[in-house]
Amino acid sequence: AMVDKAGYKHFMAKEIAEQPTVITNALDAYLTESGIALPEPGLDFRTLDRMSLVACGTAYYACMTAKYWFESLARLPVDIDVASEFRYREPPIPDRTVALFVSQSGETADTLAALRFCKGKAASVAAVVNVTESSIARESDLVLPIHAGTEIGVASTKAFTCQLVVLLILALKAAQDRGHLSDADLAERLVALRALPGLMNHALATEEPASALSRKLSEARDVLFLGRGAMYPLALEGALKMKEISYIHAEAYASGELKHGPIALIDEHVPVIVMAPRDALFDKTVSNMHEVMARGGRILLVSDQRGVADAGDGVWESLVLPEVDPFLAPILYALPAQLLAYHTAVAKGTDVDQPRNLAKSVTVE
Ligand code: G6P
Repeated sequence: AMVDKAGYKHFMAKEIAEQPTVITNALDAYLTESGIALPEPGLDFRTLDRMSLVACGTAYYACMTAKYWFESLARLPVDIDVASEFRYREPPIPDRTVALFVSQSGETADTLAALRFCKGKAASVAAVVNVTESSIARESDLVLPIHAGTEIGVASTKAFTCQLVVLLILALKAAQDRGHLSDADLAERLVALRALPGLMNHALATEEPASALSRKLSEARDVLFLGRGAMYPLALEGALKMKEISYIHAEAYASGELKHGPIALIDEHVPVIVMAPRDALFDKTVSNMHEVMARGGRILLVSDQRGVADAGDGVWESLVLPEVDPFLAPILYALPAQLLAYHTAVAKGTDVDQPRNLAKSVTVE
């Protein structure tokens, strides 16, 4: 069926707004009354020692987030690679490794080449895809659909959060299989997951302030994104979105790495967007923010009410999200990252759905 903008100004705006609905669809597809059900033939993590996650672009940042989940929740070592590097590095693929490829389109040439390299070497080849009739899906042993529905905007939004949800469910399954998550703890995590679409609706309600802030961001030449832990890949994704559609130079760093170089760039002209829920690492991030503020840098803090209060004075602007389980924060905080990039691009008058030089799916290496 033809997909239209349903009254939105751009497909990207529609796809951002659809996230609570498509996330619900993804949850319905994988969660049962009592637990997690994967499509056939499933995956038994008791027989696996290692995981290799490979993708490009936004899907790669989903993999990078998932590494934090698989390692901390399931104690499963994970390697992540961008597909164009993975294939030609000729990496060893030990037995008992599952190779997992993440791709919205399922047609990205680099990712497909990496998949073909793994066939016959990995214990199992799995794919997290949106388009289930794609080449990557066809050539995989296990297909995990993300249920995002057709995504038209070149800059990926709802596919990213649906990829994250499916990868998180997989990490919970791995934790359960490997004996690192009791039934009660799993049940608690699934309740939190079920509450995510509702929290996303609250996050979408920051659109007005996000759009007002974006008018200020649109005047910047460079923007820096910071995050710690699983919020670091999200900072990278926020910077990618900003570059792709607003054409503003945006970079992301792990908050703790700021002092090892990028702090040299800080002055009053560079907005620094800090993605930091009030979690166990928050105090460390506050000291990083003070390093920026001491040099005249302008901090835009994306956090919850407690985080904004604890950050104290001196923060330039803030965007307040609801409190969320720390392990779900990268998914919820994707929404303000998308909204900031979208409204900055709108303020600049760029072609949001069809940014220059980019393609939705890149089928050449
Ligand atoms: C292109 C798109 C990106 C996307 C990447 C990977 O660069 O512009 O939005 O993240 O390809 O695409 P895939 O379909 O493999 O997820």
